[in-house]
Amino acid sequence: MYLTRQEEKMYDGEFGVPVQKAMKILVALGDVYEAEKMVRIRSAHVAGLSYKSHGDAGLKFAEDMVKAGARVRAFTTTNPLGVDREGMWEALGLPRDFATRQLRIGKAYEQIDCACSFSCVPYLCGNLPRFGEHISWAESSAVVFTNSVIGARDNREGGLSALAAALTGRTPAYDLHLDENRLGEILIDVHATLKGIQDFGALGAYVGQLVGDKIPVFKGIPRNAPLEYLIEFGAAQAATGSVRMYHIIGLTPEAPNIETAFGEETIKDKIEINSTELKRAHEMLTTATDQKVELVVIGCPHCSLRQTREIAKLLSGKKVHKEVLLFVHTSKTTKTFAEQMGYTQMIEGAGGHVTTDMCTILGPFEALGFKRVGTNSAKLATHTPSFNRFKAFFGSTRKCIEAAIRGTWIIS
Ligand code: F3S
Repeated sequence: MYLTRQEEKMYDGEFGVPVQKAMKILVALGDVYEAEKMVRIRSAHVAGLSYKSHGDAGLKFAEDMVKAGARVRAFTTTNPLGVDREGMWEALGLPRDFATRQLRIGKAYEQIDCACSFSCVPYLCGNLPRFGEHISWAESSAVVFTNSVIGARDNREGGLSALAAALTGRTPAYDLHLDENRLGEILIDVHATLKGIQDFGALGAYVGQLVGDKIPVFKGIPRNAPLEYLIEFGAAQAATGSVRMYHIIGLTPEAPNIETAFGEETIKDKIEINSTELKRAHEMLTTATDQKVELVVIGCPHCSLRQTREIAKLLSGKKVHKEVLLFVHTSKTTKTFAEQMGYTQMIEGAGGHVTTDMCTILGPFEALGFKRVGTNSAKLATHTPSFNRFKAFFGSTRKCIEAAIRGTWIIS
């Protein structure tokens, strides 16, 4: 592949060993996907900081990077950890050994000059790409959001390739960095009425498992769908499938109409979604049967300010059941704002926990002996059985809060 003079210098080691290794990874990746050249990225978002997923090897890798003098060249935010930096993990009784090692990984990324957002919604905390910008992000829910809602150019990167891009400021130009690869591949004709965030998540999960890595084009979804619904919608598609981008007609910048979304391609595949399919999707995400619930989680992906406000209002004048742990996962940016507005105090006054830097999937919460989790997140409901060994109840935000107050999930 073609490299500029500066990229060649990186490849030859003139910018140090970490940059050289990173450039070699990117060139190898580019060769595999037959990229003709590199593109400069505007930002990176690195994942793979989880001690739960990467263990001591991940810790050694991160600290070796610091010792080697690595520094990111692009503005780079970071995905969540398995524990928070405020010490809530200690009060919750999470294993100290896990927490100490996890925080060391976080520290290492700080030392290589990442903007440590420790959040999966970096676009809500200071890393907001613009239409057409090339970026290299590694959180699947964020990748699908930036491609589909903003129109940034991003591939579904792994932790290592996004880090390599962060260290060099480059990524190979292939797949979704090229306009011709961003066209729709399958039409999803939605006739069901989507009533809330849970229906967007359920629909996303249903479609994700059917389309795999194809780019779906959705017809029949309101173009004024709230931001949070769209975040949830993409996260679910990326969780059950490998969706990197979707089009919603009239909402995705590259899909003002169906003809533009598909380009010259004829529509070969089509799936119809009626209320039956939507109901089936809800059933697929609920794996728990016994009504008792010990953990309720909202904020996968991390909550926006508007969501923390909604939860605070739902909890007004109520108390979380004494045998239930209620998590509202969010970023530090949002929590700071939520504190100023009094939402955090309302949630915590009712017995809930507003967490930062972390999430249930990446934390060692199975060590606390929970069996069932109630959630409004299709992504969490999909992944928690394998990551935490929890069974899930899936439903609206209101239903989650009611379950947290009652200690039981009403199956309807
Ligand atoms: Fe974010 Fe953790 Fe869910 S990283 S998308 S809250 S699994």
